[in-house]
Order: sequence, then C-alpha cells, then structure tokens
Amino acid sequence: MTSPGPWPLTAERDDGGVLRVGGVAMTELARSHGTPLWVVDEADLRERCRRYRDGFPGVEVAYASKAWCTIGVLQVVDQEGLLIDVVSGGELHTALVAGVDPANIVLHGNNKSLDELDRALEVGVGRIVVDSFEELERLEKLAADRDTVATVWLRITPGIDAHTHDYVRTGHDDSKFGFTLSLGLADRAVITARDLAHVDVVGIHAHIGSQIFGTDPFVANAEVALDLLARWRDELGITLTELNLGGGMGIRYTHEDHPVEVARYGEAVLRAVDDRCARLDLPRPRLVVEPGRAIVGPSTLTLYEVGTIKVLPGLRTYVSVDGGMSDNIRPALYDAQHEVALANRSGADEPISTTVVGKHCESGDLVREHAALPSDVAVGDLLAVAATGAYTESMASNYNRLPRPAAVLVRDGEVRTIIRRETLDDLVARDVPLP
Ligand code: LLP
Repeated sequence: MTSPGPWPLTAERDDGGVLRVGGVAMTELARSHGTPLWVVDEADLRERCRRYRDGFPGVEVAYASKAWCTIGVLQVVDQEGLLIDVVSGGELHTALVAGVDPANIVLHGNNKSLDELDRALEVGVGRIVVDSFEELERLEKLAADRDTVATVWLRITPGIDAHTHDYVRTGHDDSKFGFTLSLGLADRAVITARDLAHVDVVGIHAHIGSQIFGTDPFVANAEVALDLLARWRDELGITLTELNLGGGMGIRYTHEDHPVEVARYGEAVLRAVDDRCARLDLPRPRLVVEPGRAIVGPSTLTLYEVGTIKVLPGLRTYVSVDGGMSDNIRPALYDAQHEVALANRSGADEPISTTVVGKHCESGDLVREHAALPSDVAVGDLLAVAATGAYTESMASNYNRLPRPAAVLVRDGEVRTIIRRETLDDLVARDVPLP
C-alpha cells in the first residue's frame, strides 16, 4: 500500500498490518465512528489542490463540487484557493454556507431554474455558464429586473469525442449540454447575446467528459476553443477574453489505471494554448480548469465491515459488506472498478479471487468483482475501498432505507467529523404519515 497507488497519500500499514491514514488506524475509526465510513485524508486533498495550482501556473482552478459537495470538503478546497463550481441551487447553498465568497463561485447546469438563476444574481456569483437559448432570455429578464448585468460564459459543445464511458461523455455533438459548435448553435448564441443589455458574455466553456486518460483530447479541446475565439473575433468582431477548459482528468482506481500527472497535463495544455494563441495572434485568455474527481477522488477510502461470506464451490466466493450501491453507485452504474484491501490486518499471503458485494436487494449491488483478498478473509474483517471521494457521497441514496454513512477528515492523528451518520429517525423525518 505504498503510493503511487489508488490509496490516499498518507496510507500505510503499521507493524501489525493495520491500515492507517492520516496517522489514524482504521480499526480505531471503525470502533469510534462505525462503518461504513468515508475516510478523507486531508493532506491528500490539500496536496491535490496544490498540484493543480502548481501544474497550471497562471490558470484558475475551479473545483467541480458535484464530485463531493459537503461543507467540510468545500472549506478545505476554498482554503487552498480554488474556485467552486456548482450546478444547482443546493450546491450553491452549500458553498455559501461553507463561507465561499460568491465571486469565487461558478454556476453551471443545462436546466437551471428561474429561482437558481435569480439566486445566483442576488448573491453575485462570479460567472454563470449559459447552456441554452432559453437561459439567455431568462437571464436577460432576471438581470434587468435586478438592474444588474449577468457575467457569463457560453458553454460550447466542441465536437470532441473523448473515449470514456457513454454516461460521462459530454464533448461530442449529440449532447444535452451546451451549444453545439458544428451545428452553428454556438455562433447563434454569441450573436443573440450580443444584443442583450443585461448579459455580458466574457468567455466560453468547453468540458469534454470525465475519467479521461491522456492529454490529447484536452489539447484538442483547447485548440478548438481558441480557434473559435479567433474566428468570432475575425468574423463577428466579438472579442472574448476568458476560456474555461473544463475538468475530466482520470484518476487511479486500481493499480491498472495510469492517469497522467497533473504537471504533465498542465504542461501539455498550456504549451498547446500558447502555440495556438501565437498562431492565431490571440492574447492568452484568462484560463480556468475545472477538475472534480482528480481533486477529491483519491483522497478518500470507504471503510466497510464484512458481514457474511458465501462460498459457492466451483463458482465464486461472495464477501458481503455493510454498505454497497447506496453509498457507491459507481460499480453498478459505470462498471467502475475500485481497488479493495483488508484494513484491519494484512491477512494470509495467498490471495483468492472474491466478489465483494453490498447488502442491497439487487444482484447488481457490486463493490468489486474479482477482488483479490487474502484467503483467510473472515467475517468481522474491515475492508477498505479505494478512491471513493468523488461521485460516491454525492450520488448516495437511501435505497433499502440504509442510513447514509458518516465521513471523517483525518490528519496527523486527528479525526474530525464532516458528515454525521444518518439515523433511523432521519430516514423517516420527511415522511408525512396519513392521519
Ligand atoms: N465541469 C463540468 C461542466 C462537468 O460536467 C464535470 C463533470 C466536471 C467539470 C468535473 O469532471 P471531473 O474532473 O470530475 O471528471 N458520476 C460520474 C462522473 C460525472 C461527471 C459529471 N461532470 C462518475 O462517477 O464517474
């Protein structure tokens, strides 16, 4: 369990084989906070923020909070100097409660409600990313009513097909997001916006998808966006000075994943930007990148306890844990593979192939298929599942009425709760019984 693997940066095994993160033993955490538990390595989270800032000099980094939007995480990321990107009134509210300066907030979304847009104008978010013609109209009216001007980026769909899971591709032409470039919609949007008195388009936004490995699609995205800025300048006389290149860099979920280091990613994108700008005689725009997964994903592991083990001779061994698809839908939804390891001891040297499953009433409730676990894995053992900081808590549900887990931040032997465990009473708190 030595880095660089899919485990948080401070993860290590002590002499007794117990997994420790942030100087805290997983056995101790299971005793004090129960399982399932999200364990966030604060040092790792801060380090990922810094690597982005260092890897993209002169570029603003916006954390895509959809990856994990909880107050404690936003506070840490905000302290590290990142902007916060939100996509709903709920995420916006969370960021405001976390104390984020509204000027450092970016609001996204392909179908923002009037209330969401109006709230964004009311608090003065830094940028609104306009995604449709209806939204241009709505913003014009709302901003006029407030006697203000909405400062926006236009989200364009650049026609880049990043090779990733279908559900997390956004850059190809047939997407529900943005104004499709190849269909002339982006041109129409910028021309429409030019006549609006209360909407000020200052830049464009282009995000091509998520869990992408390699730098080529990001470079291509930057080039397409810069070409567009130059063409609008030349053909329409419209000069936009800001460019948000989106997020999407992949992370390591297992030892087989080999994402690009942030430094190399930044270097490749910035070199391409500068080359293209020189060729187009365009000053380098104010650049923003927008990672979510790469900031928070690797920082966290989920700690579970093994409850039952079912050996089906000649078929497989099912190892069941006390959570599952309600706290991590990713294996069921995207066939995601997260590495699994024993957390309370090293276990026997001989690994066996197991199928780690959750406790939900569904066969698709997988934690990890083909998980290599020590052959003596036993009921009562603790299992750690790697890289669960992104899109797990934020996509969690109460399926089968499981209370959602707690989350703790660990650093230098200190434990701080950032989400308390849901209670059984929480589960029925919104139910309204019939008289
Ligand atoms: N910017 C925009 C406009 C986005 O739509 C997204 C992700 C991001 C930034 C951040 O992308 P990241 O750096 O995290 O890849 N639930 C899926 C991922 C959905 C991504 C949605 N948009 C998963 O668990 O893999």
